[in-house]
Amino acid sequence: MKSLKVAIIASSLVFPGLAVPVFASTAQFPKMPKINTSKYPKGELGRMVRLGENIMNNTYKNPLTKDMVGNKLNCRSCHLAGSDGKPGTAKGIGTFIGTAAAFPAYSKREKTVQTLQDRINNCFMRSMNGKRPIIDTKASVAMAAYITWLSQGLPMKMNEKRPCGLYNSNRWAKSVKKFAKIQRKATHQNYLAGKEIFANKCAACHGVNGQGVGSFPPLWGKTSKGEWLSYNTGSGMSKLNKGAAWAQSNMPLGQGGTLTDQESADVMLYVDAQPRADFDLQKGLFPRDKMGYYNSNVLKEHHSVKSNFKAFGLDLDKIRGTAK
Ligand code: HEC
Ligand code: HEC
Repeated sequence: MKSLKVAIIASSLVFPGLAVPVFASTAQFPKMPKINTSKYPKGELGRMVRLGENIMNNTYKNPLTKDMVGNKLNCRSCHLAGSDGKPGTAKGIGTFIGTAAAFPAYSKREKTVQTLQDRINNCFMRSMNGKRPIIDTKASVAMAAYITWLSQGLPMKMNEKRPCGLYNSNRWAKSVKKFAKIQRKATHQNYLAGKEIFANKCAACHGVNGQGVGSFPPLWGKTSKGEWLSYNTGSGMSKLNKGAAWAQSNMPLGQGGTLTDQESADVMLYVDAQPRADFDLQKGLFPRDKMGYYNSNVLKEHHSVKSNFKAFGLDLDKIRGTAK
C-alpha cells in the first residue's frame, strides 16, 4: 500500500502533466477544484440559480436581458461550458469556478472596490456591447446567484489586485503581460500570418467574415440591418494582449492551449483589426435614472479599433496594409 502511494507520487513528479493536466506547464497556479453541479439549491434559491444559468446561455434572447445586449453574444460565448454543459465551468481563462469567492475586489480600471454584480455589469457594457442591468433586478441577482453557486464550499479570498477569481487572477495577469510584449512588435507580416491562421483554424466555425455560423458566435462586423454582432472596443477581448491571452487558453474550441504564443498573438491581431463598435463610457451611463448607480471613479473612457492599436504603439493602417 505504502509503496503504491510512493509510486504514484514519484510518477506525478516525473510526469507532472499527468497529475495536473490543465496547468501542466504552470505549476505555480492553484489547482482548480471540482464543483458538483448536478444538484441545484432547494426552493426559490435554486430557481434563481437556474434562471441565472439560463440567462448566461441565452443572454441576447432572454426577455430579462435582451434589451441590455447590443450584439449576438451570450455570457457563455466567452465563459465556456465545461463537461457538465454549464456556462463558466470550463477550466480555461474566464472560468467562473471560484470567481464569487474573490469579491468584493479592487479594480484598477474603475478605481473602486467592485461587487460581483458590478463586475457582471462591466461585461454587459463592453463584451456584450450593451447597457448595465440595474443591480437590484431579478436578472442581476439571478446571474450573481448562478456565479456564486460555482464557488460553493471554496474559501473566501477577496482579491486586492484585480476583479478576478483565484483561478483566473494570476494566469490572466501573467499571460496578458506576455502578450503585451509580443504585440508591441507586430508588423503587417503578423497581420497576414494571423489572417492565414484564421482561415485555417477559426473560419470553419466563426465564418470567413467573422459573422458566426449557426450557434458558433460572431467575432466582428454587422448584420445586414447594420447591428453590431460582437464585442466592442472597450472589452478585454478587443485589447491585443487580453484577446490573445483568452484565445490561447480557450480556442480553437476543445483545443485550448494548442496555439503557440506567436500564433495566438497574430490571429487576435487580425481579429481585433476588424470593424467593431466604438466604446464611449458616457453613452452607456446615461440617463442615470435608467442605469442606476455606477460604482466607478472613472467616468470618461473612449476606445476605437484604431486607439486599441495605438495603445501598443501600432498604426492600424500600417498593420492592415491600408496606409496611403
Ligand atoms: C466577448 C467575451 C465575453 C463575454 C461575451 C462576456 N465576458 Fe465576462 N469576461 C471576459 C473576459 C476576457 C474576462 C476577464 C478574464 C478573467 O477575468 O478571467 C471576463 C471576466 C468576467 C468576470 C470575472 C471572472 C473572474 O473570475 O475573473 C465575470 C464575473 C464576468 N466576466 C461575467 C460575465 C457575464 C455575466 C457575462 C454575460 C452578461 C459576460 N461576462 C460576458 C469576456 C467576456
Ligand atoms: C470547432 C468550432 C470552433 C473553432 C474551430 C474555433 N472556435 Fe472560437 N468559439 C467557438 C464557440 C462554440 C464559441 C462560444 C462557446 C459557446 O457558445 O459555448 C467560441 C468563442 C470564441 C470567441 C469569444 C466569443 C466571440 O464570438 O467573440 C472568440 C474570440 C473566439 N472563439 C476566437 C476563435 C479563434 C481566434 C479561433 C481560431 C484560432 C477559434 N475561435 C476557433 C467555436 C470555435
